[in-house]
Amino acid sequence: MEKQQGNLFYIETYGCQMNVADSELVASILVDNGYRQASDIDAADLIIFNTCTVRQHAEDRVIGRISNEMSRKKQKPHLKIGVIGCVAQRLGEKLLEVNAGIDFVLGVDQYKSLPMTLRFLDSWGVKHCSDFNSEQSYEYHSPLRSGKHNAFVTITRGCDNYCSYCIVPYTRGRERSRLASEIVREARQAGEAGFRDITLLGQNVNSYNNRGATFPDLLEMVNDVESIRRIRFITSHPKDLSARLISVMQKSNKVCEHIHLPMQSGNTEILKRMNRGYTARHYWKLIEKLRDAIPNIAITTDVIVGFPGETEEQFDDTMEMMKRLRFDAAFMFKYSVREGTEAAGFENEVPEEIRLERLKKLINLQTGITTEKYQQQTGLTKEVYVEGVSKKSTAELSGKTRDAKVVVFPGDSSLIGSFVNVEITDAIGWTLKGRQLSKE
Ligand code: 5AD
Ligand code: SF4
Repeated sequence: MEKQQGNLFYIETYGCQMNVADSELVASILVDNGYRQASDIDAADLIIFNTCTVRQHAEDRVIGRISNEMSRKKQKPHLKIGVIGCVAQRLGEKLLEVNAGIDFVLGVDQYKSLPMTLRFLDSWGVKHCSDFNSEQSYEYHSPLRSGKHNAFVTITRGCDNYCSYCIVPYTRGRERSRLASEIVREARQAGEAGFRDITLLGQNVNSYNNRGATFPDLLEMVNDVESIRRIRFITSHPKDLSARLISVMQKSNKVCEHIHLPMQSGNTEILKRMNRGYTARHYWKLIEKLRDAIPNIAITTDVIVGFPGETEEQFDDTMEMMKRLRFDAAFMFKYSVREGTEAAGFENEVPEEIRLERLKKLINLQTGITTEKYQQQTGLTKEVYVEGVSKKSTAELSGKTRDAKVVVFPGDSSLIGSFVNVEITDAIGWTLKGRQLSKE
């Protein structure tokens, strides 16, 4: 059903890696239905915004961005604008009412309905909003991957944890685990297509379970896929990270020495009110176990400051924990109220200026720790997966270590896509500099 004209699409993606993976899925659904990917937004006949609503700021930004694009319709009356993802799921039909030129709205589990939605729009010119109820699966679509070397493979959709601050269980729905055989097939296909670094994706990968296959089982299966060289996974949840998982990580040679393990707070009372299901002590012991089993493991985290009722002392517990645990890096956020979540009804909101002040303090502390951690890498030899030419200089290549650090080193572009041993000579900000030792 190849179309003659007006079939170029462009997807702009916001938010987490799950959205990146979903955009790749949407791209493949569109290509299977006769659409083609536009080289840039100006060339597009169809613009799709895949949106994020995890914090209010993210939502406001994307709505502003969509409104800006509305003027394109003056020069190109046939242009269609669609909104998908978590803002679409949250606001639904209301998005058609804001004056942003939006033609259709599809929720996070409605992407298979996209071709039909577009046909409907073409034939009748009717704006469309999905019913947001169905839970579609995407087993028969292989994502149209946006990267060249790293591939995301979705293993679960949705989340059942209901952390009290979080909107995700409401936008992405109940947790569903894909079939292990499907995941392995998709990983193998990606590996054979040259993606040597695979990231298994889920809101909480540790609770993966399908017909008795658990996450450690899945890791072992993917570890056996010949064409893959590196395996990563995000995001882990401290309450579900088992001793068996640590042991499988230790034994599986392809599983990289990195874990992203959101702590959220260093205070047990706050963790309890966040409904996180673990204590500060449990978290800290978990980090010890991970470091005992895998001494050179890089650990990154997420932290929220200014949760309702957070006292100065409770915030200090978070500061102390960051000093004690010395994360390689952290994503730090000020609490943002999400309508409909449990915490939206909590009293004692922390004033905005105090949230900001705490955030600045925490970022300051962590920046120092991250800088030191990166400095400590000098003199080490690291295996680098060369992913491209450096953004700053074409004489340099850029790649990633197993422990998720970016390395830049002088080298020839023929090395892109290969694995090279690099001696780290310096750390500039959060980029390591090095010199090539050998190519494998
Ligand atoms: N306010 C601030 N940060 C939030 N996160 C999730 N919900 C909120 C919220 N309401 C953060 C958490 C999560 C990360 C993806 O976003 O730290 O791990
Ligand atoms: Fe949100 Fe908690 Fe689920 Fe993560 S685990 S998506 S923070 S509810």
